[in-house]
Amino acid sequence: MSYQIAIDGPAGAGKSTIARKIAKIKEFIYVDTGAMYRAMAYFLLSSHVDPKDAQAVEAECVKADITIVYMDGEQVVLLNGENVNSVIRSEEVGNMASVTSQNPKVRERLTVLQKELASKNNVVMDGRDIGTCVLPGADVKVYLTASAKVRAKRRWDELTAKGISCDITQIEEDIVRRDQQDMNREIAPLKQAEDAVLIDSSFMTIDEVVQAILDLCK
Ligand code: DC
Repeated sequence: MSYQIAIDGPAGAGKSTIARKIAKIKEFIYVDTGAMYRAMAYFLLSSHVDPKDAQAVEAECVKADITIVYMDGEQVVLLNGENVNSVIRSEEVGNMASVTSQNPKVRERLTVLQKELASKNNVVMDGRDIGTCVLPGADVKVYLTASAKVRAKRRWDELTAKGISCDITQIEEDIVRRDQQDMNREIAPLKQAEDAVLIDSSFMTIDEVVQAILDLCK
């Protein structure tokens, strides 16, 4: 039986940074489910599908074959055989993913793949519905959050460090809108699983959060 660590939480809470570190320490694979939803959103953007048109999204999403491979321990998302890691990180793709991930067909396709990965490997998996829907029997469940202000500031620091100029107020507005969309959708909304441990990282360092989760695994 594989060991499963599920980390859910809102955009920008630090899930991927933390999950990647834990996976490295425990020698588990890291499954970034947001990247799968982003790859699907990228595909739908490239096909010029109206994200609000559920039927069009359903018809188009079946043409996207999304798989995950690991190269040097890093997750590579393949969309119809092509590595899309470098094109799915934009705000445009993230915002599209928040809308198109509401579609049941999109969720069904990606959830099957996520469950399969977790049944064959020890995993640290992060997303919005991992503890509640994808891996309800996970050994450790964490709901990682931080205030919207702190999350916006972290995102702003990250983009600025990459030389991308951006407006922090706009980023905070985007974050709040995405939280609302992700928390209020009909299927698999973002929420803390009843048996998940809440960690608010607003005033914690990355290493402190990593240690808190490792302690839960003992
Ligand atoms: O974690 P992220 O920002 O890369 O995720 C992008 C979007 O994908 C997020 O706004 C909602 C969606 N998502 C989801 O619905 N379920 C998941 N398990 C992961 C992400």
